[in-house]
Amino acid sequence: MSQHDSIRAVEWKDNHLVLLDQRKLPHNEQFIALYSADDTAEAIRNMVVRGAPAIGIAAAYAVVMAARKSYKQYPQDWRQRLLAEIEMLKNSRPTAVNLMWALNRMCEAADDIQGDPEYPLLELAKKIHQDDIDANYRMGELGSALIAPSHGVLTHCNTGSLATGGYGTALGVIRSAYSKGIIEHVYADETRPWWQGSRLTAWELVKDKIPAHLLCDSAAAHLMKLGKVSWVIVGSDRIAANGDVANKIGTYSLAVNARYHGVKFMVVAPTSTIDLATLCGNDIPIEERPQDEVLNVSNQRIAAYHTQAWNPAFDVTPASLVDALVTEKGVIENPTAEKIAALMAS
Ligand code: MRU
Repeated sequence: MSQHDSIRAVEWKDNHLVLLDQRKLPHNEQFIALYSADDTAEAIRNMVVRGAPAIGIAAAYAVVMAARKSYKQYPQDWRQRLLAEIEMLKNSRPTAVNLMWALNRMCEAADDIQGDPEYPLLELAKKIHQDDIDANYRMGELGSALIAPSHGVLTHCNTGSLATGGYGTALGVIRSAYSKGIIEHVYADETRPWWQGSRLTAWELVKDKIPAHLLCDSAAAHLMKLGKVSWVIVGSDRIAANGDVANKIGTYSLAVNARYHGVKFMVVAPTSTIDLATLCGNDIPIEERPQDEVLNVSNQRIAAYHTQAWNPAFDVTPASLVDALVTEKGVIENPTAEKIAALMAS
C-alpha cells in the first residue's frame, strides 16, 4: 500500500470473507467473519459493506463460499444450486451495477469449470478484487491530472478504500491530487441520512492525514459561491449508456450547483460501473431505504412521532452536467452515448 492508502475493508482470509463493519465506524473498528453467501447478502443489505465496487467484490467472494457448499452437498448438481445463491446475492441491493457485473463474471466462469469449483472461483474473485485496486490507482493518476493547482475540492458520500477494493474512486483521485500537492484541502459532505461522509470519509481522511473539513450537505452551494472548491468529485453506482450517473442522493443537486457556480464536476468510476444495457438514467432502479434512517439519528428519534419519511438512497445526474468521466480505460470529457460506446469497445 502506498502513502495515503492504509485501509482495507474487504479481505479473504484462509477460507472465509472478513468485512470491516461500516455500521460501527468511526468509533469501533470491528471486523465480521462470514462463511456463507446468505450471510454476505445480509451484510450487503444491512450496509456492513457498502459502496458499489466493494459490494461487487464481497459478492464475488460469497460465490466462492456458495460453490464450496454446493459442491460438497451436491457434487453432481452444484451448478444449479450455485445459480440460486447467485440470484439471491443479486437481489441484495438494486442500484449498484458492480454487484451484477461481478456476479455475472463469477457465473460465466462457473459454467466452464469441471470438478471442484472452489479454487478457480477464488482465483477469479481475487482477480476482481486486485483489478479494482489497480483501476483505482490508474483513475487516481488520470483524474488528478485534470485538476489545476487549487485550494480545495468537494466530495460526497464515501468513495474511498471502504467503498472499493482499496484506495477509492473519487477519493482515490483526491488522494492522488493531495499526494502530488495539487490540492491542499478536502471538503466532505456529511451525506445524510446514513452519514457516509461524517462516519466514513472523514475517518479515512483523518487516518491518511489529509486536511479536511466536513460540512452539512446543505452548505455545499455556499461553499461553491465562496470559491473554495475548483471541482466536485464523486463516484457512481451505475452509469447508463448515455452517460447519466446514479450516485448517492444529493449528487444531482451538487451537479446543478456546480454548473451554476462555474465549478467543474468529475465522476470517477471503473468501467464495471458502466451499464450499456441501461439506456438512460430513467431506467436505473433507485433503491428506497427504510424511513427510520431519516426519522432517527443513531437510533434516537429526531422527527415527531407519526411523521413519514421518503428515503431514496440515490439520484441521477444527467450526463450534460458531467464535465469529466474518469475510468481506468481513460477520461471522457462531456460524456455522450457515442463516447461511452467507443471507450467500452476500446
Ligand atoms: O449507499 P452506499 O453507501 O452504498 O452508496 C455509495 C455511493 O453512492 C458511492 O458514491 C458509490 O458507490 C461509488 S463508491 C466507489
